[in-house]
Amino acid sequence: MNILGIESSCDETAAAVVKDGTVVLSSIVSSSHDLHNQFGGILPELASREQLFFMLPVVQQALQKAFPKEESIKTALENNIDAIAVTIGPGLIGSLLIGVETAKTLSLLTGKPLIPVNHVLAHPYANFIKSKRAQGPTFPAIALVVSGGHTELFLMKSERKMHWLGGTIDDASGEAFDKSARLLGFGNGGGPAIASAASTHNIQHSTHTLHLPRPLLYNETLNFSFSGLKTALQRAWNKQENTQETAAMFSYEIQEAITDVLVFKTLKAAEKYNAVSILLGGGVSANQRLRDKFIQTDSNYSFYFPPLELCTDNAVVAALYAYYHQSPHNYREISASPSLSIEISS
Ligand code: KG4
Ligand code: ZN
Repeated sequence: MNILGIESSCDETAAAVVKDGTVVLSSIVSSSHDLHNQFGGILPELASREQLFFMLPVVQQALQKAFPKEESIKTALENNIDAIAVTIGPGLIGSLLIGVETAKTLSLLTGKPLIPVNHVLAHPYANFIKSKRAQGPTFPAIALVVSGGHTELFLMKSERKMHWLGGTIDDASGEAFDKSARLLGFGNGGGPAIASAASTHNIQHSTHTLHLPRPLLYNETLNFSFSGLKTALQRAWNKQENTQETAAMFSYEIQEAITDVLVFKTLKAAEKYNAVSILLGGGVSANQRLRDKFIQTDSNYSFYFPPLELCTDNAVVAALYAYYHQSPHNYREISASPSLSIEISS
């Protein structure tokens, strides 16, 4: 079964073809990230204008790459695609509309069924693609979704059953990385800039004077809170001489604080629900320190981290999610849903 995935929830325009929920035949991602850099954050209007421009060429490229022998995009779709998966939310309304309306038009013209996708729930499905590991995730599993807009924990009893356990009550972990990066003078470099500066900090040989809190660590719930961390970082930074060395030390400590909380709470959820696997997804799951901390825990869980190119937004995860949640819809039943709920129980 071949699914064409389409994703445009934030500033990426992406299309992919995935076979049988495991093999990626093509994945094309066009990002307007660099364009937004000059404005200090994502401008929704600009993002959707870019997506309007790139959506059809991205879909075209994904189909061409997956089915190079087909004469046209029309025949590539008609002869090979079984369903079209599209992110309907959560996300920016202008951006979502581009992907949703494109998918609806393709469905109307070809008669292919449409499968609506929840972007946040789709992220951990990056771990289901065929990899060098003999076995895919086993259940029950805990899925941690860590992105620019979300930090959520889910219990997965099977590939199809997801139950929301808790999430951030304010900023997301990716947002904490992004705001810290701006504060420390790394512009819109976000998590990757913090990770890179942190790696230059030598804890043994430099004075490490910053100790940030680990918010909600021992709180009963499986919720997170990251907005206080940013404020604490800002207060300390304002009192400090701002050099490259101190920026590296601050980057190290903010990364430690965020990753400590993510690992601790995820393990707490895993213990509570007798999980055997832990799956990560979303942009922050690319963070090497986070991955290392999970692996270094003294536990028997099997850890699954997506390939780096499938951590940040892409259409492969939309197609994968659709494969496991096949709920074909007529194009009339589908619409963009910017505040689509993630607090599900299936
Ligand atoms: O999943 P994603 O591409 O977009 C959303 O759905 O929000 O995640 C983007 C987030 C950004 O906040 C970015 O700073 C963060 O993922 N990120 C990282 C790393 N790579 C991306 N955070 C920490 N370390 C990284 N290596
Ligand atoms: Zn995302």
